[in-house]
Amino acid sequence: MIRRYDFGTPIPTDAVVVPVPVGEGSLPHMVTATRGGALSFTVSLGEHDMIFGLGESVRGINKRGFRYRAWNTDDPSLHEGRECLYASHNLLIFSGTCGLFGAYFDDPGNVVFDLGYTDSDKAVITSPEGNISVYLIEEDSLKGIVHAFRGIIGQSYLPPKWAFGYIQSRWGYASEEEIRTIVREHRTRHIPLDSVSMDIDYMERFKDFTWNQNNFADLKKLTGDMGKEHIRLVPIIDAGVKQEQGYDVCDEGLAKGYFCLKADGKPFVGAVWPGHSYFPDFLRPEVRAWFGRQYFKLLDAGIEGFWNDMNEPALFYSEETLQEAIELAESCKGKNLGVEECFHLKDVFQQTANNMEDYRRFYHVVDGKNIRHDRVHNLYGYNMTRAAAEGFQAYQADKRYLLFSRSSYVGAHRYGGVWQGDNCSWWSHILLNLKQLPSLNMCGFLFNGADLGGFGQNTTEDLLLRWLQLGVFTPLMRNHSAQHTRDQEIYRFRRSEDMRRVLTVRYALLPYLYSEFMKAALTDEMLFRPLAFDYPADDVACRTEDQVMLGGECMIAPVYEQNARGRHVYLPEDMLMVRFHSAEDYDLLPMSAGHHWVALELNEFPLFIRRGVMIPLSRGAEWVDAVDSRTLTLLGWDCGHAEYAFYDDDGQSKDAKLEGHVYALRVDAPTEGFALDGSKLIHGEGRD
Ligand code: GLC
Repeated sequence: MIRRYDFGTPIPTDAVVVPVPVGEGSLPHMVTATRGGALSFTVSLGEHDMIFGLGESVRGINKRGFRYRAWNTDDPSLHEGRECLYASHNLLIFSGTCGLFGAYFDDPGNVVFDLGYTDSDKAVITSPEGNISVYLIEEDSLKGIVHAFRGIIGQSYLPPKWAFGYIQSRWGYASEEEIRTIVREHRTRHIPLDSVSMDIDYMERFKDFTWNQNNFADLKKLTGDMGKEHIRLVPIIDAGVKQEQGYDVCDEGLAKGYFCLKADGKPFVGAVWPGHSYFPDFLRPEVRAWFGRQYFKLLDAGIEGFWNDMNEPALFYSEETLQEAIELAESCKGKNLGVEECFHLKDVFQQTANNMEDYRRFYHVVDGKNIRHDRVHNLYGYNMTRAAAEGFQAYQADKRYLLFSRSSYVGAHRYGGVWQGDNCSWWSHILLNLKQLPSLNMCGFLFNGADLGGFGQNTTEDLLLRWLQLGVFTPLMRNHSAQHTRDQEIYRFRRSEDMRRVLTVRYALLPYLYSEFMKAALTDEMLFRPLAFDYPADDVACRTEDQVMLGGECMIAPVYEQNARGRHVYLPEDMLMVRFHSAEDYDLLPMSAGHHWVALELNEFPLFIRRGVMIPLSRGAEWVDAVDSRTLTLLGWDCGHAEYAFYDDDGQSKDAKLEGHVYALRVDAPTEGFALDGSKLIHGEGRD
């Protein structure tokens, strides 16, 4: 059951799209209080109570014990002390003596979630201005709460099937030649590949919807040639529009008044990659429609997928903040600065980026009213994603496009996926990637993935290999790295053959991963779940933070430590371990419930399948369209009478539905014994 409780004058966000009855009386489970203009909600916690949610954020799957903040921020240091990352997903799910309930805090401003940080037995959620809708979700299970919540926020974005293929990316690919070389290096070595993403270097001086005419002279020909190699190109689009007379997007945006304005009526200017830039007011439908139409230029050139970036929005500086810093620096000239003054000077320069004063300098128009940016800050990236998706819809209504964004808010999950921003080539970030998977799924962001191998800093061979072993299971599987870091393409490494073999598993598992993804999206379920969701009565499972459930049948437990040659795994029930070396080469080891040390050499990684169920495995391929999902091997244990509901479709139509697309895969005859590796090929019933 879900009830809505409104406080003050909530700002419409379109996060929730289904009417929810208004609750009577006071908000259950919480004590509300006002302080200054702020409004707080307090939940008293028992010692062992757990709190799930908050989508893309740092720390545990169980969020208790830290203070988090909803404030979408471009800061490439994703360390444990960060209160906010690039996205704000304001869902909390409480479980324990405090009750079993979810609460969605729909306020696009700077909401603070103090979850046992100030006072360990209290969760205090504070809305800065007290204009908020709180949706209270009461169901009898953790899964049920998510399912009910997902039911009111609308169906998750459906990517095309090819988007589940491996994507090679790097900030710095600056020419058509470079892209052709990357593709050739993959194809000649039989390293599977479906896409290459194009970072800002493809543009003409970082101007959105342009491409460098020298280095990408004929983009349409390039996409055509790539198409013959079964490769799609995926260009980046940034939120800021370069301020430059004669640049059509800039001129038109100014003429039509589509950029965010300051209080004096002049367009706000902030600096990002292209230097001084304007910021489209994506919160206005007509601006979205206009910006969405700009994508047509690239769609016409044969592009079928994009990533939207810098849409928190990121601000390197504004003239105002920079000027203040310069004045301060000038006043320091020739002085013998004390420690405090010296640090202050450095801080002031540092704080020219993403400065709160700048976020208070410009306005959006919502329902005909001017509203200051900081009050709706977290809606910006969401509405840029929406602009793009609405553009694709207008371009070709029945086709799915690949779209993922850096910044998001609940609601954006209907229009695109996300990647988790500028991580580093650190072992701890493999674990962070894993922990974010179920939390992102709770808010409908099913299509997600982190920069495999790490974005910032230099990767190492073993780190990339281990990270790919997790990436095999994430819907977005993209290797991306920052400019000036060590080359990170698989073929650069001595152990590239081991990495290639990891990718073969991705393509072999593709029919299963796609099937589970689509079923989760179409039925408002999660693809990844904390163990606590499946085994709520098992204390060890509830506290397990480095393993997650995948789909209806599996559990994953990646290695995320340097030099590890195995790891501890907790099995909440009997499971079959599939220890993969490659798609063709794997061991099947039935294991009983309990604690295990699992040996895993650098070229080995596990997938655990529940007892009595099975999953399909294809023979793999070097690109998604070549995966044969009609000839499948079934993997399972003790599943003589088991059936797998296999979803498959054409991978591109927009109106995907379960009816007519689910096939019952079953073994021909009851089997005895432990491992059933379907050495005979099983065809699903109802297929051609
Ligand atoms: C941002 C993005 C990163 C991209 C870079 C250059 O830092 O998060 O993925 O490579 O900008 O466009």
